[in-house]
Amino acid sequence: MLLKTLAASAPCLMRWMTDDAACHIMVQKIIINMNKKIITACMTAAGAAAAAGLPFRIDETFYRIAAPEIKHQTRICVLSDLHSSTFGKNQKHIVERVHRARPDLIVMPGDIIDDKKDSGPAFELVSELGDYPLFYVEGNHERRMTDDVRIRQKQKLKDLGVHVLEDNSVIIETSGIEIAGLHSMHHQPDCTPDRASQLFSSRWFRILLSHRPWYPEFYSKVDCDLIISGHAHGGQWRIPFINQGIYAPQEGLFPKFAQGLIDLGPNSILISRGLNRRKYFIPRLYNNPEICYIDIIKN
Ligand SMILES: [Fe+2]
Repeated sequence: MLLKTLAASAPCLMRWMTDDAACHIMVQKIIINMNKKIITACMTAAGAAAAAGLPFRIDETFYRIAAPEIKHQTRICVLSDLHSSTFGKNQKHIVERVHRARPDLIVMPGDIIDDKKDSGPAFELVSELGDYPLFYVEGNHERRMTDDVRIRQKQKLKDLGVHVLEDNSVIIETSGIEIAGLHSMHHQPDCTPDRASQLFSSRWFRILLSHRPWYPEFYSKVDCDLIISGHAHGGQWRIPFINQGIYAPQEGLFPKFAQGLIDLGPNSILISRGLNRRKYFIPRLYNNPEICYIDIIKN
């Protein structure tokens, strides 16, 4: 199209170079027209690229960690940051995937309920998965609710059989795992690594559930084997092909601690991209909702 326009305007361009006034006006019109076409083409391409990046499925990501402390291989499913989103009738799109993966237990590292939305879908998911051992800690969105609402929500979860961890731990003797839950901290850690280490009481494989991932120094000093977090939503928008998130709270642009299994030296942190569909009105781009599974295998 561009070449055709240029070819058609070639005679006029020649006259324009000889200072013909009428041709000056015509060339200006051609340039304005071409600019409009280029802008329209760019906007169409940007719109198409954004539409192609909208979530179209739930990703399932599998990880593996070897541990001498474990009694036998255990599969842990991570459901994070649901933010009361709905995935089909009775949350069937999540539930069917979890059943297929057959985890031994499920952990929920926060923001399952959103303070600004109806909590129904979150409780629907929990009751559909009631046959699995479920472990939960609060995220910042649950912390934002008033105290009486929070107490009611947590009681409801406990009534559904969920282990609500609030600075305490549960030992799973059959697997050789201890899971502790740390309260949802603010922009900085508000307890010491020693205090967090004291949540554990055994030498089994130690897992710490803690909503925010952005305390790598703090976490590396906690006496545990694995930290499981969410919160960053993978950076909300991700750059395709290089698999990099754009922005995460606290960490800022191009965050490192927004997804994946990251070695911190003495221990590791697994960060789920979470299940929320959008953040307020901002959709996820090139960043499908995610369920993580981590197999702890005996070595
Ligand atoms: Fe969060």
